[in-house]
Amino acid sequence: MNNLTRQKYSINRIDRNQLNKHSSFLIWFTGLSGSGKSTLANLLEMELSKHGIHTYLLDGDNVRLGLNKDLSFSGVDRTENIRRIGEVANLMIDAGLVTIAAFISPFQADRENVKKSVGESNYIEIYVDTPLEECMKRDTKGLYEKAIKGEILNLTGISSPYEIPESPNLIVNTSEITNVAAIDKIVNLVMEKLKQND
Ligand code: ADX
Repeated sequence: MNNLTRQKYSINRIDRNQLNKHSSFLIWFTGLSGSGKSTLANLLEMELSKHGIHTYLLDGDNVRLGLNKDLSFSGVDRTENIRRIGEVANLMIDAGLVTIAAFISPFQADRENVKKSVGESNYIEIYVDTPLEECMKRDTKGLYEKAIKGEILNLTGISSPYEIPESPNLIVNTSEITNVAAIDKIVNLVMEKLKQND
């Protein structure tokens, strides 16, 4: 970190927010694999695009196929996964984008660090609280079956912990409400935030 001097850019976040005509912040989806994070994040991005909002979606599986392909599902590597995403989100917020992230992010401390890193006022946390039994029933990726057979280790909810968010901005349970109803709640929250920052 020594011998580094932060470079000042002539065009900054405020300029980009003015150009885009909206503010930029991070919407963080957390929850078990199969809880519906990616589906809701994708629907949210479609909805925001319709409203002319500039967005970018960061999703666990996709980021792990590229930037974070060197990381495993050990506790240490999950922490590093989330730390890097926090830094990427910081750049995207600076670039003027409403950034949407969908990661299991099982540890409270890691989520807190992301919030601290982007700033509390730039962070909305949505806990996709779909019960494990429902996620296992869906098992869209076949991971729960593999974990039960012992073919994969450290699967969240089975052989690796998930710490329930302490103070999310919104909780949605996709086994109790439809995606349409969930998205409605989420879009309302995001639109409120966009209005606040007007
Ligand atoms: S996190 O725990 O580090 O936040 P992340 O959201 O990036 O996880 O990646 C989770 C995705 O990786 C899951 O949706 C699933 O498809 C895949 N995956 C593969 N192995 C595991 C595992 N052992 N635990 C959790 N997810 C896994």
